[in-house]
Amino acid sequence: MTIMQLAEIYQQIIQKMTEAGIESPALEARRLIKRHFNIDWAEIVASPAKTLPDTTALENDLRRRLSGEPLSRIEGVREFRGLEFTLGPDTLDPRPETEILVDWALELFHGKHPERILDLGTGTGCIPICLLKEWQATRGLATDIAPGALEIARRNAETHKVADRLDFQLADWGQGIEGRFDLVVSNPPYIPESGIGILQKEVRNHDPILALDGGFDGLQAYGKIFSALSRLLKPAGKALFEIGAGQEADIERLAGKYRIRIEAVRPDYAGITRVVEISNGDK
Ligand SMILES: C[S@@+](CC[C@H](N)C(=O)[O-])C[C@H]1O[C@@H](n2cnc3c(N)ncnc32)[C@H](O)[C@@H]1O
Repeated sequence: MTIMQLAEIYQQIIQKMTEAGIESPALEARRLIKRHFNIDWAEIVASPAKTLPDTTALENDLRRRLSGEPLSRIEGVREFRGLEFTLGPDTLDPRPETEILVDWALELFHGKHPERILDLGTGTGCIPICLLKEWQATRGLATDIAPGALEIARRNAETHKVADRLDFQLADWGQGIEGRFDLVVSNPPYIPESGIGILQKEVRNHDPILALDGGFDGLQAYGKIFSALSRLLKPAGKALFEIGAGQEADIERLAGKYRIRIEAVRPDYAGITRVVEISNGDK
Protein backbone atom coordinates (compact mmCIF):
# COMPACT_ATOMS: atom_id res chain seq x y z
CA MET A 1 0.00 0.00 0.00
CA THR A 2 1.36 3.44 -0.98
CA ILE A 3 0.43 6.48 1.12
CA MET A 4 1.04 9.88 -0.50
CA GLN A 5 0.13 13.52 -0.13
CA LEU A 6 -2.33 15.04 -2.58
CA ALA A 7 -0.04 17.66 -4.15
CA GLU A 8 2.75 15.11 -4.40
CA ILE A 9 0.74 12.59 -6.36
CA TYR A 10 -0.81 15.35 -8.52
CA GLN A 11 2.65 16.59 -9.51
CA GLN A 12 3.96 13.06 -10.09
CA ILE A 13 1.09 12.20 -12.41
CA ILE A 14 1.58 15.43 -14.38
CA GLN A 15 5.31 14.77 -14.70
CA LYS A 16 4.87 11.19 -15.90
CA MET A 17 2.14 12.14 -18.36
CA THR A 18 4.24 15.03 -19.70
CA GLU A 19 7.20 12.67 -20.24
CA ALA A 20 4.86 10.29 -22.09
CA GLY A 21 3.78 13.13 -24.42
CA ILE A 22 0.16 13.25 -23.19
CA GLU A 23 -1.47 16.45 -24.42
CA SER A 24 -3.32 17.74 -21.34
CA PRO A 25 -1.48 16.22 -18.37
CA ALA A 26 -2.90 18.51 -15.67
CA LEU A 27 -6.48 17.97 -16.80
CA GLU A 28 -6.05 14.21 -16.97
CA ALA A 29 -4.27 14.14 -13.59
CA ARG A 30 -7.26 15.90 -12.04
CA ARG A 31 -9.65 13.44 -13.67
CA LEU A 32 -7.72 10.48 -12.26
CA ILE A 33 -7.68 11.99 -8.77
CA LYS A 34 -11.38 12.81 -9.01
CA ARG A 35 -12.15 9.27 -10.18
CA HIS A 36 -10.30 7.56 -7.36
CA PHE A 37 -10.76 9.94 -4.43
CA ASN A 38 -13.64 12.19 -5.46
CA ILE A 39 -11.32 15.16 -4.89
CA ASP A 40 -11.54 18.09 -7.30
CA TRP A 41 -8.98 20.68 -8.32
CA ALA A 42 -10.10 23.27 -5.72
CA GLU A 43 -9.39 20.75 -2.97
CA ILE A 44 -5.96 19.91 -4.42
CA VAL A 45 -5.11 23.62 -4.18
CA ALA A 46 -6.69 24.10 -0.75
CA SER A 47 -5.34 20.93 0.91
CA PRO A 48 -2.04 19.95 -0.78
CA ALA A 49 -0.79 18.09 2.30
CA LYS A 50 -3.86 15.90 2.62
CA THR A 51 -2.82 12.25 2.72
CA LEU A 52 -4.49 9.81 0.41
CA PRO A 53 -5.38 6.41 1.88
CA ASP A 54 -4.12 4.06 -0.84
CA THR A 55 -3.05 5.06 -4.33
CA THR A 56 -2.56 1.55 -5.73
CA ALA A 57 -5.67 1.59 -7.92
CA LEU A 58 -4.86 5.06 -9.21
CA GLU A 59 -1.34 3.95 -10.04
CA ASN A 60 -2.72 0.98 -12.00
CA ASP A 61 -4.89 3.33 -14.07
CA LEU A 62 -1.91 5.65 -14.58
CA ARG A 63 0.14 2.76 -15.92
CA ARG A 64 -2.64 1.93 -18.41
CA ARG A 65 -2.81 5.59 -19.46
CA LEU A 66 0.98 5.83 -19.90
CA SER A 67 0.90 2.76 -22.13
CA GLY A 68 -1.46 4.58 -24.50
CA GLU A 69 -4.96 3.64 -23.32
CA PRO A 70 -7.22 6.73 -23.48
CA LEU A 71 -8.60 7.93 -20.15
CA SER A 72 -12.15 7.60 -21.48
CA ARG A 73 -11.53 3.86 -22.05
CA ILE A 74 -10.13 3.48 -18.55
CA GLU A 75 -13.13 5.32 -17.10
CA GLY A 76 -15.49 3.44 -19.45
CA VAL A 77 -17.42 6.59 -20.26
CA ARG A 78 -17.24 9.59 -22.59
CA GLU A 79 -19.04 12.90 -22.35
CA PHE A 80 -20.77 13.90 -25.59
CA ARG A 81 -22.92 17.02 -25.90
CA GLY A 82 -23.25 17.20 -22.13
CA LEU A 83 -24.40 13.57 -21.73
CA GLU A 84 -22.32 10.67 -20.43
CA PHE A 85 -22.09 7.62 -22.71
CA THR A 86 -20.91 4.19 -21.62
CA LEU A 87 -18.23 2.77 -23.91
CA GLY A 88 -17.61 -0.88 -24.75
CA PRO A 89 -14.97 -2.81 -26.68
CA ASP A 90 -17.19 -2.66 -29.81
CA THR A 91 -17.98 1.06 -29.68
CA LEU A 92 -16.03 3.99 -31.02
CA ASP A 93 -15.05 6.52 -28.37
CA PRO A 94 -17.26 9.39 -29.66
CA ARG A 95 -15.41 12.45 -30.95
CA PRO A 96 -16.28 16.12 -30.38
CA GLU A 97 -16.45 16.65 -34.19
CA THR A 98 -19.55 14.47 -34.29
CA GLU A 99 -21.36 17.01 -32.10
CA ILE A 100 -21.29 19.29 -35.18
CA LEU A 101 -23.46 16.77 -37.03
CA VAL A 102 -25.94 16.64 -34.13
CA ASP A 103 -26.15 20.44 -33.87
CA TRP A 104 -26.68 20.72 -37.61
CA ALA A 105 -29.44 18.10 -37.59
CA LEU A 106 -31.28 20.08 -34.91
CA GLU A 107 -30.96 23.27 -36.97
CA LEU A 108 -32.24 21.61 -40.13
CA PHE A 109 -35.67 21.03 -38.59
CA HIS A 110 -36.04 24.57 -37.14
CA GLY A 111 -37.42 23.41 -33.79
CA LYS A 112 -39.92 20.97 -35.35
CA HIS A 113 -39.69 17.31 -34.38
CA PRO A 114 -39.18 14.94 -37.33
CA GLU A 115 -41.32 11.82 -37.21
CA ARG A 116 -38.64 9.14 -37.84
CA ILE A 117 -34.87 9.25 -37.90
CA LEU A 118 -32.26 6.62 -38.77
CA ASP A 119 -28.66 6.38 -37.57
CA LEU A 120 -26.50 3.92 -39.51
CA GLY A 121 -23.52 2.58 -37.52
CA THR A 122 -24.64 3.90 -34.15
CA GLY A 123 -21.75 2.79 -31.88
CA THR A 124 -22.62 4.12 -28.40
CA GLY A 125 -25.84 5.57 -29.83
CA CYS A 126 -24.56 9.06 -29.08
CA ILE A 127 -26.08 10.67 -32.22
CA PRO A 128 -29.70 9.44 -32.04
CA ILE A 129 -29.82 9.60 -28.24
CA CYS A 130 -28.79 13.29 -28.27
CA LEU A 131 -31.35 13.99 -31.02
CA LEU A 132 -34.19 12.16 -29.26
CA LYS A 133 -33.41 14.03 -26.02
CA GLU A 134 -34.13 17.26 -27.94
CA TRP A 135 -36.98 15.94 -30.13
CA GLN A 136 -39.44 14.46 -27.65
CA ALA A 137 -41.99 13.52 -30.36
CA THR A 138 -39.53 11.66 -32.61
CA ARG A 139 -38.87 7.91 -33.01
CA GLY A 140 -35.49 6.60 -34.07
CA LEU A 141 -33.88 3.49 -35.48
CA ALA A 142 -30.24 2.84 -34.61
CA THR A 143 -28.32 0.17 -36.52
CA ASP A 144 -24.90 -1.40 -36.34
CA ILE A 145 -23.20 -4.51 -37.63
CA ALA A 146 -21.59 -5.10 -34.23
CA PRO A 147 -24.01 -6.73 -31.74
CA GLY A 148 -21.83 -5.52 -28.85
CA ALA A 149 -22.24 -1.92 -29.97
CA LEU A 150 -26.03 -2.27 -30.16
CA GLU A 151 -26.09 -3.66 -26.64
CA ILE A 152 -24.16 -0.66 -25.30
CA ALA A 153 -26.29 1.77 -27.35
CA ARG A 154 -29.45 0.22 -25.87
CA ARG A 155 -28.02 0.62 -22.38
CA ASN A 156 -27.17 4.27 -23.10
CA ALA A 157 -30.69 4.85 -24.44
CA GLU A 158 -32.09 3.49 -21.18
CA THR A 159 -29.77 5.66 -19.09
CA HIS A 160 -30.88 8.74 -21.01
CA LYS A 161 -34.54 7.71 -20.97
CA VAL A 162 -35.16 7.52 -24.70
CA ALA A 163 -35.27 3.71 -24.98
CA ASP A 164 -39.04 3.76 -25.50
CA ARG A 165 -38.55 5.79 -28.72
CA LEU A 166 -35.36 4.23 -30.09
CA ASP A 167 -35.35 0.85 -31.85
CA PHE A 168 -32.25 -1.15 -32.62
CA GLN A 169 -31.46 -3.34 -35.60
CA LEU A 170 -28.46 -5.45 -36.47
CA ALA A 171 -27.87 -4.50 -40.10
CA ASP A 172 -25.20 -4.16 -42.75
CA TRP A 173 -25.72 -0.50 -43.70
CA GLY A 174 -29.06 -0.16 -45.57
CA GLN A 175 -29.73 -3.89 -45.97
CA GLY A 176 -33.02 -5.03 -44.46
CA ILE A 177 -34.03 -1.60 -43.19
CA GLU A 178 -37.68 -0.91 -43.88
CA GLY A 179 -39.60 2.31 -44.22
CA ARG A 180 -38.59 5.85 -44.99
CA PHE A 181 -37.12 8.45 -42.70
CA ASP A 182 -37.21 12.24 -42.35
CA LEU A 183 -33.55 12.22 -41.39
CA VAL A 184 -30.76 9.73 -42.04
CA VAL A 185 -27.46 10.30 -40.24
CA SER A 186 -24.22 8.38 -40.14
CA ASN A 187 -20.63 8.67 -39.03
CA PRO A 188 -19.31 5.63 -40.89
CA PRO A 189 -15.75 4.28 -40.75
CA TYR A 190 -13.72 6.41 -43.17
CA ILE A 191 -10.02 5.75 -42.58
CA PRO A 192 -8.36 4.24 -45.66
CA GLU A 193 -6.92 0.79 -44.88
CA SER A 194 -3.38 2.07 -45.48
CA GLY A 195 -3.87 4.83 -42.87
CA ILE A 196 -4.87 2.57 -39.97
CA GLY A 197 -1.27 1.64 -39.11
CA ILE A 198 -0.24 5.27 -38.71
CA LEU A 199 -3.11 6.36 -36.46
CA GLN A 200 -2.23 7.47 -32.90
CA LYS A 201 -1.86 4.40 -30.70
CA GLU A 202 -4.76 5.61 -28.52
CA VAL A 203 -7.01 5.18 -31.57
CA ARG A 204 -5.32 2.26 -33.33
CA ASN A 205 -5.18 0.03 -30.27
CA HIS A 206 -8.39 0.97 -28.51
CA ASP A 207 -11.09 1.89 -31.03
CA PRO A 208 -12.59 -1.18 -32.74
CA ILE A 209 -11.31 -1.76 -36.27
CA LEU A 210 -14.91 -1.98 -37.58
CA ALA A 211 -15.41 1.62 -36.49
CA LEU A 212 -12.30 2.86 -38.31
CA ASP A 213 -11.69 0.85 -41.45
CA GLY A 214 -13.22 2.48 -44.53
CA GLY A 215 -11.69 -0.02 -46.97
CA PHE A 216 -8.90 0.57 -49.49
CA ASP A 217 -9.97 4.16 -50.25
CA GLY A 218 -11.82 5.03 -47.03
CA LEU A 219 -15.06 5.38 -49.00
CA GLN A 220 -16.47 1.86 -49.01
CA ALA A 221 -19.17 2.52 -46.38
CA TYR A 222 -20.39 5.68 -48.17
CA GLY A 223 -20.85 3.75 -51.41
CA LYS A 224 -23.05 1.19 -49.65
CA ILE A 225 -25.02 3.81 -47.73
CA PHE A 226 -25.53 6.06 -50.77
CA SER A 227 -26.79 3.14 -52.83
CA ALA A 228 -29.67 2.74 -50.32
CA LEU A 229 -30.28 6.40 -49.47
CA SER A 230 -33.03 7.24 -51.98
CA ARG A 231 -35.01 4.26 -50.69
CA LEU A 232 -34.49 5.22 -47.04
CA LEU A 233 -35.29 8.94 -47.28
CA LYS A 234 -38.74 10.45 -47.52
CA PRO A 235 -39.00 12.72 -50.60
CA ALA A 236 -38.19 15.85 -48.58
CA GLY A 237 -35.95 13.95 -46.20
CA LYS A 238 -32.48 15.09 -45.24
CA ALA A 239 -29.24 13.24 -44.65
CA LEU A 240 -26.09 14.24 -42.80
CA PHE A 241 -22.82 12.33 -42.93
CA GLU A 242 -19.54 12.83 -41.18
CA ILE A 243 -16.59 12.51 -43.58
CA GLY A 244 -12.83 12.21 -43.27
CA ALA A 245 -10.29 14.97 -43.98
CA GLY A 246 -9.92 15.61 -47.70
CA GLN A 247 -12.82 13.33 -48.74
CA GLU A 248 -15.27 16.02 -49.90
CA ALA A 249 -14.53 15.79 -53.64
CA ASP A 250 -14.68 11.97 -53.58
CA ILE A 251 -17.95 12.05 -51.64
CA GLU A 252 -19.41 14.48 -54.18
CA ARG A 253 -18.40 12.20 -57.04
CA LEU A 254 -19.80 9.16 -55.25
CA ALA A 255 -23.09 10.95 -54.52
CA GLY A 256 -23.40 11.83 -58.21
CA LYS A 257 -23.00 8.15 -59.08
CA TYR A 258 -26.13 7.38 -57.03
CA ARG A 259 -28.05 10.44 -58.31
CA ILE A 260 -28.04 12.20 -54.95
CA ARG A 261 -26.18 15.43 -54.26
CA ILE A 262 -24.34 17.43 -51.62
CA GLU A 263 -26.46 20.43 -50.56
CA ALA A 264 -24.04 21.98 -48.06
CA VAL A 265 -20.93 21.22 -46.01
CA ARG A 266 -19.70 22.26 -42.58
CA PRO A 267 -16.15 22.42 -41.21
CA ASP A 268 -14.91 21.05 -37.90
CA TYR A 269 -13.04 23.06 -35.24
CA ALA A 270 -9.83 22.77 -37.31
CA GLY A 271 -11.52 24.16 -40.45
CA ILE A 272 -11.63 20.76 -42.19
CA THR A 273 -14.84 19.88 -44.05
CA ARG A 274 -16.36 17.34 -41.67
CA VAL A 275 -20.10 17.04 -42.28
CA VAL A 276 -22.03 16.96 -45.55
CA GLU A 277 -25.74 17.42 -46.09
CA ILE A 278 -27.11 15.25 -48.85
CA SER A 279 -30.54 15.35 -50.46
CA ASN A 280 -32.05 12.52 -52.43
CA GLY A 281 -32.49 14.68 -55.50
CA ASP A 282 -36.28 14.30 -55.58
CA LYS A 283 -36.90 17.99 -54.94
C1 LIG B 1 -16.99 5.68 -36.83
S1 LIG B 1 -18.02 4.58 -35.90
C2 LIG B 1 -19.32 5.73 -35.41
C3 LIG B 1 -20.01 5.35 -34.15
C4 LIG B 1 -20.98 6.42 -33.63
N1 LIG B 1 -22.01 6.69 -34.60
C5 LIG B 1 -20.23 7.70 -33.30
O1 LIG B 1 -20.33 8.66 -34.07
O2 LIG B 1 -19.53 7.74 -32.28
C6 LIG B 1 -18.76 3.63 -37.19
C7 LIG B 1 -19.76 2.57 -36.73
O3 LIG B 1 -20.20 1.85 -37.88
C8 LIG B 1 -20.34 0.50 -37.55
N2 LIG B 1 -20.23 -0.31 -38.78
C9 LIG B 1 -19.13 -0.75 -39.42
N3 LIG B 1 -19.46 -1.47 -40.50
C10 LIG B 1 -20.81 -1.48 -40.56
C11 LIG B 1 -21.76 -2.04 -41.46
N4 LIG B 1 -21.35 -2.77 -42.51
N5 LIG B 1 -23.06 -1.83 -41.23
C12 LIG B 1 -23.48 -1.11 -40.16
N6 LIG B 1 -22.63 -0.55 -39.26
C13 LIG B 1 -21.32 -0.73 -39.46
C14 LIG B 1 -19.21 0.24 -36.56
O4 LIG B 1 -19.45 -0.92 -35.80
C15 LIG B 1 -19.23 1.55 -35.77
O5 LIG B 1 -20.09 1.45 -34.66
